[in-house]
Amino acid sequence: MDVNRKVQTLDEFTIQQLRDFPHATGELSHLLRNLGLAAKRVNVEVNKAGLVDILGDFGTINVQGEEVKKLDVFANDQFTGVLKHGIACAGIASEELDDFVAFGDPKSVQSKYVCVYDPLDGSANIDVNVSIGTIFGVYRRVTPIGTVVTKEDFLQPGNKLVAAGYVVYGSSTMLVYATRRGVNGFTLDPSIGEFTLSHPDIKCPETGKIYSVNHGNFFKYAEGVRDYIQVCQQKDKKTGGPYTQRYIGSMVSDVHRNLIKGGIFMYPGTTDKPAGKLRLLYECNPFAFIVTVAGGKATNGKMRILDIEPEELHQRTPMFIGSLQMMEELESYQEKDNK
Ligand code: AHG
Ligand code: MN
Ligand code: MN
Repeated sequence: MDVNRKVQTLDEFTIQQLRDFPHATGELSHLLRNLGLAAKRVNVEVNKAGLVDILGDFGTINVQGEEVKKLDVFANDQFTGVLKHGIACAGIASEELDDFVAFGDPKSVQSKYVCVYDPLDGSANIDVNVSIGTIFGVYRRVTPIGTVVTKEDFLQPGNKLVAAGYVVYGSSTMLVYATRRGVNGFTLDPSIGEFTLSHPDIKCPETGKIYSVNHGNFFKYAEGVRDYIQVCQQKDKKTGGPYTQRYIGSMVSDVHRNLIKGGIFMYPGTTDKPAGKLRLLYECNPFAFIVTVAGGKATNGKMRILDIEPEELHQRTPMFIGSLQMMEELESYQEKDNK
């Protein structure tokens, strides 16, 4: 029987990649399959979010007699549960949990990977039917295989990531992941319940016409950032401006769109919150890795996001990310902020 080779599932794709590496164990494929499974479960629940009033409010008991959980707690439970029960991850750190979790069972301690994630990004948008997402990163542990993981396995700079990805629960559901070899996007085909390769070898356009920033904070940004934002609004032959402002408030959706179409996303520090809002481990590093592999760039305004040595699990950082030329233009204005 002929199999339709046009449709390649996430599983088939990751297994195909293994053929080029005779010594690969398949552990990363296993891990990505687990992450895909958790994403599918979250997707089902996200699609029901509007039914909360009918099925029961958060904290109440639903018709199946289960407690209705906040969606970000539900998402965290799904990702943590699936990885804990799998055999390809030795521990996790999540934006939803105060501390990392070490999986101490005999199979998990034999695994070489740990995962970090923001199980539900853009959670303020859930109630209003706007795209939300999940962001994840995969590190090779630094402690010996066979032992229980420690905090230092998670406090690694982004340049040590083995893989990183995100899921957008949007008009369609997509999983995009990157390894050093490239970035590939998979769209969930609801008819077979599988992520299928839809965006092979994603490259971030060198430049674009979209800038994404919270304008409400404009007067709290550093001078160079304000100058750049004003440049984005001006007619300019060199930059091709004025640009279009697009800001959803779900970083996953904003950065996904800019990655595909070209653009720049900024969450700068403000006078009252110099480190901004976004978390280095769970949000910034995975995206910095993905966009860098795709040919773009990500900084904190001073240095590459990927080179920051993390000190705390929940550390925040300013974030500037996007198309290479737009980032270089921004940097020329940021010089004055770094004097
Ligand atoms: P989370 O829902 O995980 O807390 O993250 C929300 C983040 C990010 O997705 C988004 O870009 C940003 O918050 C929006 O913040 P502002 O409303 O301050 O612009
Ligand atoms: Mn988030
Ligand atoms: Mn979150």
